Amino acid sequence: MNLQFHDYHPQSDDLRRCVMTGFAGSPKQLPPKFFYDEEGSRLFAQICEQPEYYVPTVERSIFEAHAQDIMRSLGLDGCTLIEPGAGCGRKVRFLLDRASPAMYVPMDISAEHLRGSAQRLAADYPDLPIHAVCVDHTKPYELPDEIPAERRVFFYPGSSLGNFDHSEAIRFLQDLRGKAGVQGRLLIGVDTKKSVDVLNRAYNDEAGVTAAFNLNLLHRIRQELAAELEVEAFSHQAFYNESRGRIEMHLVSRRDQWVRVVDRQFEFKAGESIHTENSYKYTPEEFQRLAWESGWASEKVWLDPLDYFSVHLLKSRQG
Ligand code: AVI
Repeated sequence: MNLQFHDYHPQSDDLRRCVMTGFAGSPKQLPPKFFYDEEGSRLFAQICEQPEYYVPTVERSIFEAHAQDIMRSLGLDGCTLIEPGAGCGRKVRFLLDRASPAMYVPMDISAEHLRGSAQRLAADYPDLPIHAVCVDHTKPYELPDEIPAERRVFFYPGSSLGNFDHSEAIRFLQDLRGKAGVQGRLLIGVDTKKSVDVLNRAYNDEAGVTAAFNLNLLHRIRQELAAELEVEAFSHQAFYNESRGRIEMHLVSRRDQWVRVVDRQFEFKAGESIHTENSYKYTPEEFQRLAWESGWASEKVWLDPLDYFSVHLLKSRQG
């Protein structure tokens, strides 16, 4: 198999540290990266199949409608294709079926998930060298030495950039720009601003999968940190905060209660929440400004007929 695995896995006490500081703060909060353990990654894949969560379907429709133009503009043959949040490895198949990159570098925070998806890709594309890198993008890291420095194309679909605050998004895009080099490109999917109703429904699917995904964070804290915590005493909440241009996800305490983690007790009042995720939405112009500030210039942008989602091709900004 033409596959190598590089594990820069986050330190095991990272979750404990973030819970201890996040539960002690006001408002209480947790970084969304902890959603993606094995079960969380599985639930996220299930979210992507819910009819209300339009992101993957609309993004896919843009890729299909503009396949020729996207592939021609991208010029992927012979390049090193790097995917910072590869997840289950489904989206990249669109590119791999239409071009012949010299190497593919999937990256993800969940080692088990990444290993499985990289193995499936290696089996389906046996001639493609694959270097899978398990990494936490909120921490500094270097790509393995085996990854050629020339002709790097980054692929970041699914609007994962929306889960970063503005300053983090700029830092992340600047980091990709540094790693991409002067000839580097970035193909990125970005969710747009739209009707509040459509947005709210997307994060409150009727089957309750997004709720399970959010609550899985508490299951994880219970299991991994042996926390004394009743998951059923919290409920999922997601809403569009129009003034900040973002979906907010929270876990809301159903009653007054105490939660014990390691050697500390944390008080939760009824209605008090843990802020677990932001998902920022950008108009194409807002995103282009953000990209410019981060060292990227817009080359092309594709949208669906309802402007629900945008796919941007960026090139390194000179000067
Ligand atoms: C991964 N990310 C782009 C998703 C989003 O839409 O912000 C995560 C998600 N959270 C709830 N549903 C989906």
